[in-house]
This record gives sequence, C-alpha cells and structure tokens, in this order.
Amino acid sequence: MKKSKVLITSKLPEAAREILTGKGYDVVIRDEEMETLEEFLKSNLNSSDALIPLLSDPIGKEVIDQAPNLRIIANYAAGYNNIDIDYARSKGIVVTNTPDVLTNATADLTWALILSVAKRVTEGDRFVRDGKFSGWGPLLMLGAEITGKVIGIIGAGRIGQAVGRRAAGFEMSVLYTGHQKKQEFEQAAGAIRVDLEMLLSRSDIISLHCPLTDETRHLIDKHAFSLMKKTAIFINTSRGSIVDEAALAEALENSQIGGAGLDVYEFEPEITAGLLKMNNVILLPHVGSATPETRNEMARMAANNVIAVLENKAALNPVW
Ligand code: DGY
Repeated sequence: MKKSKVLITSKLPEAAREILTGKGYDVVIRDEEMETLEEFLKSNLNSSDALIPLLSDPIGKEVIDQAPNLRIIANYAAGYNNIDIDYARSKGIVVTNTPDVLTNATADLTWALILSVAKRVTEGDRFVRDGKFSGWGPLLMLGAEITGKVIGIIGAGRIGQAVGRRAAGFEMSVLYTGHQKKQEFEQAAGAIRVDLEMLLSRSDIISLHCPLTDETRHLIDKHAFSLMKKTAIFINTSRGSIVDEAALAEALENSQIGGAGLDVYEFEPEITAGLLKMNNVILLPHVGSATPETRNEMARMAANNVIAVLENKAALNPVW
C-alpha cells in the first residue's frame, strides 16, 4: 500500500519526524536553503495527505487548490491566521493548532518584555557596553515602578490569563477585556472585566493577547494610543497586525506613551523604521514560544494531530 505523505515546510524539532516516520509515513521536509516555500509546495502538494506549515507560511486558496488529497493542515503554532480556514473547511480539510503548550513560555516572555522596558534593561546594557558607565548616579537611568500598578490584558485567553496571574507577584491590579466574563481568572488574579476604552485609559502596562481576526486587525490604532497614559508601557506578544504599527511609532515619537515591548510586527519580518531608532522600545524576533520544551511539544502535537486524522480519528486540536 502507498505510504501517506506528510509535508513539513521547515526544519522542526526532531520529534515531529520521529513520530511520523515511526508510524510509517513518508515525511518530506523542506530544505530552506535549496527551495522556496512556493517551489516546495508546488512539487509536493499534489501527492500529499498532510501538511505541517509554520505561522509565517500563507496557506490560502491557491495553495489548498494544489492539494487534491490533503486531509489535514496541522499548523505549527497556536495562532492560525496564516490559513484560510473557511476554504480549508469547505474542502473537507481539518485544520489544527498547538494551543496550551506555549502558554507559559509566551507569558514568561511577555513579563520579560514588561520588566525590560520598565527597567530599561537593554538600554542600560548598551550604555555599559558603550563605556558610558562612570559610576552610580542618583538620577541615572530611572525606570518605571511596576509593583502596585495596573496591568491591562487585552484578550484574556490562555496566554492573557497566564500573564495576569503572574501579576500577583507584583501586587498589581488586573483589568481585562474579552467577549466573556472569565470567572476563574477573576478569582485567581482578582481581575476585573472592563471595556477597551477604560482598560486603555487606566492601565500602566497594556498587554495584547487576542488572536488576529478581521475584528481585531488594527484594534490598537491612533485613537487607542491617544487614550493611554503618557507613561503607559505597551506590550505585544500576539500578532503584529492587531496594532497599527505606524500609529505606535508616532505615539512613541510624540511621547504619547512611555515605551513598548514587541515580539511581533505588522509586516513581519519588516519593522517600521522609526521603532529601530528608539531607546524606549524593545524589539524581539517573535520568540514567544522559543524554548526547547515548548517547541518540542508543539512538534509532537502537530505530528499527533496528523496521525489522528490520517487514521480516521478525531483531530486532537481542531481550530473549530
Ligand atoms: C504561535 O504559536 O501562534 C506563536 O506566535 C509562536 O510563537
């Protein structure tokens, strides 16, 4: 019998290949130095049963139409805004993601950004390396207090809640927005649900954790920045396009807000030029889930979703 073929668009932690080859599947992994994504998909999709793409691989109609036998797209990410899920569904293709396993890694990274911006960590590091440190100074590089302040979580899903729960260590008040009241989160973190305008105007730290959808694209725009405190620190570890990045650069430029910590960008991997020059912005290369433990778990999860669907069982993490 012909082996089912699984395409992986990039080198992942070994677990994915091991699990799939262990089950007897024919696993084809793109060598990024040899082939573009388009070339790889064009030469392989026609004969494939499963696809494991990255969050940066656009899987739209044109791609799906090249794959008459495809049964599952197992995205190697929690977010799945790179996939035309309605079209996939209309073709009977299951789409899965990797939720939960990256919650702690991403929440930890969010806090790394919060503290680094507030305490001017990267700026201080550059200052020392540049030989500018000539001794302790009463007014040298003053940062922002965090303890006792207000953190506003936009989107209290798994990651937003994990960020909010960590705020207890800093005796912070927690505000959140969301379509639904999150009873458990309110109890665990003392969180209070408010509308977006109130969250923006009351919070000292504003952290974005909603998925990118038509509804959330540019949710944080010029008007949103105008509502924030002049000292507010804005953090984004979710998706870049939820923010109008030009408006963010302008708000920082005009000292309308205090600083920003970003792991994701509107035109990733391009970054709005103005941001690169600012000292009160910390820029990371989309590493929210970047720990070996998490990336391995994501690889296992994607592989196990493929196996479930190819064995005619229910997907483990379907996105609908
Ligand atoms: C995801 O999985 O959606 C994250 O952005 C990866 O870091």
